[in-house]
Amino acid sequence: MSDSAPCRWMLSFLVLALFIPSISAASKAPVRGAQAMVVTTEPRATQVGISVLKRGGNAVDAAVAVGFALAVTHPSAGNLGGGGFMLVRQARTGETVVIDYREKAPAGARRDMYLDTQGNVIGDASTVGYRAAGVPGTVAGFELALQRYGTMKLADVIAPAIALARDGVDLSFYESESLREDSELLGKFPESRRIFLRDGRFYSPGERFVQPELAASLETVARGGAKEFYEGSIARRIAAEMGANGGLITLDDLRDYRTVVRQPVKGTYRGCEVYSTPPPSSGGTALVEMLNILEHFPLERYGQGSSQSLHLVAEAMKLAFADRAEYLGDADFLRVPVSGLTSKRYARGRFETIDPYLASQASSLGHGNPLAFESEQTTHYSVVDKDGNAVANTYTLNGGYGSGVTIAGTGILMNNEMDDFSAKPGSPNAYGLVHGEANAIAPGKRPLSAMTPTIVLKDGQLFLVLGSPGGPTIINTVLQTVLNVIDYRMTIQEAVDAPRVHHQWTPDKLTLERTGFAQDVQDGLKSRGHTLAVRGTIGDCQAIMIEPKTGVRLGAADPRNDGLALGY
Ligand code: DON
Repeated sequence: MSDSAPCRWMLSFLVLALFIPSISAASKAPVRGAQAMVVTTEPRATQVGISVLKRGGNAVDAAVAVGFALAVTHPSAGNLGGGGFMLVRQARTGETVVIDYREKAPAGARRDMYLDTQGNVIGDASTVGYRAAGVPGTVAGFELALQRYGTMKLADVIAPAIALARDGVDLSFYESESLREDSELLGKFPESRRIFLRDGRFYSPGERFVQPELAASLETVARGGAKEFYEGSIARRIAAEMGANGGLITLDDLRDYRTVVRQPVKGTYRGCEVYSTPPPSSGGTALVEMLNILEHFPLERYGQGSSQSLHLVAEAMKLAFADRAEYLGDADFLRVPVSGLTSKRYARGRFETIDPYLASQASSLGHGNPLAFESEQTTHYSVVDKDGNAVANTYTLNGGYGSGVTIAGTGILMNNEMDDFSAKPGSPNAYGLVHGEANAIAPGKRPLSAMTPTIVLKDGQLFLVLGSPGGPTIINTVLQTVLNVIDYRMTIQEAVDAPRVHHQWTPDKLTLERTGFAQDVQDGLKSRGHTLAVRGTIGDCQAIMIEPKTGVRLGAADPRNDGLALGY
């Protein structure tokens, strides 16, 4: 071999590399469904969704059935005592709406309710116990979704969840381990300790977990609708127990709770249309801002997972999270400049601040708490039916098992969503997130969320349905999955599998998943000035892609947890 041969070889490799759209680790093929697809983080819930679709239900019928089922089979995040956002797209009309069933602060909530007399945040006051709970929205949200967009009766879509609660489920390793991991929190409250920890005789994988009280609550809702939860016997139990334990939620709070149907945040990215959550979630606004910024860079040329691509993605994350901290809150309470933040012109100005070779220094605001985003604490699922109706639903108790409180006699775990407010503007919450005045506590206000159920259209046709848990990492998980499909032309499963990064502006750290980033990529990021951190996994994305040529539904459950995609 002559001296110049290796050079020629390298040159041709480089030329070749420029034309290979993306190089990714092997992933299994996505699950195919000619007509319909359900992807959730818990196999029995996926099966419930598929069985509803096969019985002739539409995507909303299936989504509501899945939501009730997850409250039984995945109690760390599935819930009746929490809230979330359901993005619904009607195939026939193209109408796309967000059903906002986010929790609300009780009327008795006060701006400084989690501060001591010196004005310091009191330890776990906003995360543990009765006072941490916001007024739940899930039951109202599901009923409204079904009334507006479903075809089946509430009793019919709740029936599978009732059976799972009454007859029990054989706990997977994943679910039994999750109960054990959160035993400290659940052990603080006798009803939670009895139900979820069997008073200290922990459930092992394969053991049957029966929830008769939850079955009874579900039956009550099946018979009397959401009214029973908000004004009937369940409401009375919640209010009585709150009253006896220093909690704030009253019968009036429950009776006054309202779901809101909102217009989604809209954007475009390289010709595709993007629909996602408006305030009180920051998800859609931040997602569209980041996509608008990144549209200025030839990411495909830089390559998926390259230090240059990751540097630019991290810079876009910082900019959007800095804006989030300043401007985002409940738009029913203050003016949130969503159209400005999501405009192409605004993004151009933000793009121009990015140094392509050097990381910007995030403000020193709010350093302190280590990031505490656990993957299983919220849950997302995606559904597409035979007609092309689509649902992307993300809902949560906030932390795993929420506030730890189970209302006696109901089997219902209460959320700790009050922690998503800023207990003290400028102080970090459980996710290390710093919020400004826009997200201060006020009676009846909804705390700022990061939930980002998202739908993408290509050439006007349904293309992607996706979302994730993970607190602030939700937005970045959705972002990277979209980039992986649109820029790097990955299959939906490759896009979901690919290793993820996260930056939330403050603390000023670029977090990488533990595996999947080669040392020279990490060195490349460090040489651009990024401070790196590592964690196990980021997000738990459940996604569907519609294959443009065939219309086949391609499902991808996130391999990071126990998810399952099923189609037919
Ligand atoms: O609404 C929010 O953004 C948070 N309550 C979500 C919490 C979450 O995703 C926890 N999961 N890992």
